[in-house]
Amino acid sequence: MDRKKLYIETYGCQMNVSDTEVIFSIMARNGYDRTEDISQADVILANTCSIRDNAEQRIYGRIDQFAREKKQRGDVLVGIVGCMAERLKEALLDTGKVDIVAGPDAYRNLPVLVEAARPGHPQIDVMLSHEETYADISPVRLDKNGVSAFVSIMRGCNNVCSYCVVPYTRGAERSRDPRTIVREVCDLHAAGYKEVTLLGQNVDSYFWKSEEGTVDFADLLSLVADVSPELRVRFSTSHPKDISDKLIETMASRDNICRCIHLPVQSGSNRMLEKMRRRYTREWYLDRVAKIRKEMPDCAITTDVIAGFCSETEEDHKDTLSIMEEVGYDYAYMFQYSERPGTLAARNYPDDVPPEVKTRRLNEIIELQNRLGLESNKRDVGKTFKVLVEGPSKRSADELCGRASNNKMCVFPDKIHRPGDYAMVEVLSCTSATLICKLV
Ligand code: 5AD
Ligand code: SF4
Repeated sequence: MDRKKLYIETYGCQMNVSDTEVIFSIMARNGYDRTEDISQADVILANTCSIRDNAEQRIYGRIDQFAREKKQRGDVLVGIVGCMAERLKEALLDTGKVDIVAGPDAYRNLPVLVEAARPGHPQIDVMLSHEETYADISPVRLDKNGVSAFVSIMRGCNNVCSYCVVPYTRGAERSRDPRTIVREVCDLHAAGYKEVTLLGQNVDSYFWKSEEGTVDFADLLSLVADVSPELRVRFSTSHPKDISDKLIETMASRDNICRCIHLPVQSGSNRMLEKMRRRYTREWYLDRVAKIRKEMPDCAITTDVIAGFCSETEEDHKDTLSIMEEVGYDYAYMFQYSERPGTLAARNYPDDVPPEVKTRRLNEIIELQNRLGLESNKRDVGKTFKVLVEGPSKRSADELCGRASNNKMCVFPDKIHRPGDYAMVEVLSCTSATLICKLV
């Protein structure tokens, strides 16, 4: 039988990138090869994100584009999968432009849905599961350089932060069998990979229980770090309420666990944190930062910040600016609050900060972070780092680029090393985004 061609666009977080790798694997077993050329595709999928309204609007734009492709060629199926599929369900079929809708726990069923879908007969599966972790599926790696890979260790989220749509789109939290995780990491190492990033919505609540005992996230991190001292380990995302002393001490005890923690703060105001249902205070958060700094003075701390959440005052906003200053974040992802239908916040609190105020506050946050990021980079000038080489730098073919353990991008003139090698560099100067280095 002729093999068919599958084209997938991926939106949203790293978790979605990892899910796309799972989808390619499932579809490959069922007669589909990957294509990067949409005009060659028999099936077009968009693996979507619902986190903010603008993410969804962008995808609606793409659906219109796919509809034009379909009209021209007739014989192509269009599917929406992932978070937006789960959130909007049948409403996506009502657009008349979509043949397949599959939620994040329905990917094993995709070949059946694709087989059954015909123009005018769309197929939908948005069942969420309490068990599905795709543990037995070997993802088809999409990265081109074969150096760094994502490994999903859990799915779903039980936190119910009041602004967040994820518990509704990805369902209840469940952890993946650690044996399958370690096996996947061993396979990656054997295939030449040098870095794995363990992914979960809230990695600190990873937990596995079997006859052999229990494994928490710190234990899992040790197991993965033990695969090889040459293999770097990263992880994302930590929750400030759950990040434990044991985890921080485990990181500190291993050189190959990278010195970078993504610890989303969201707001510096206790009143906002309470309303966001984050279940920590500013003081608790700063205590966690102090513990990280005590154990690993060289550890980068990065964050997510939301500007203009419901009823946020100037005072609350100033608290956000001051906690950012106090922590001195190395990097931050910064957003305006976007009300998501069905969330606790949408049901209980008016989205009452005017758009122009949200924008102004976000700009102040971005401006501050630009300064903090530059200051952080300046502190690294003169230091020596072990860099994992990714490939040529964007600027010049005579330069390589790669990340230090603290996740900062380093560029340096180099004709010796190849992607996947480690190189020792000294930082000579910096921009707000890059450390300019030389080999040592
Ligand atoms: N509006 C704006 N930002 C949001 N995030 C999550 N939900 C929303 C929302 N409704 C941000 C948070 C989270 C990151 C992944 O996206 O900062 O940590
Ligand atoms: Fe990822 Fe959240 Fe977007 Fe879903 S909604 S793709 S979990 S960022």
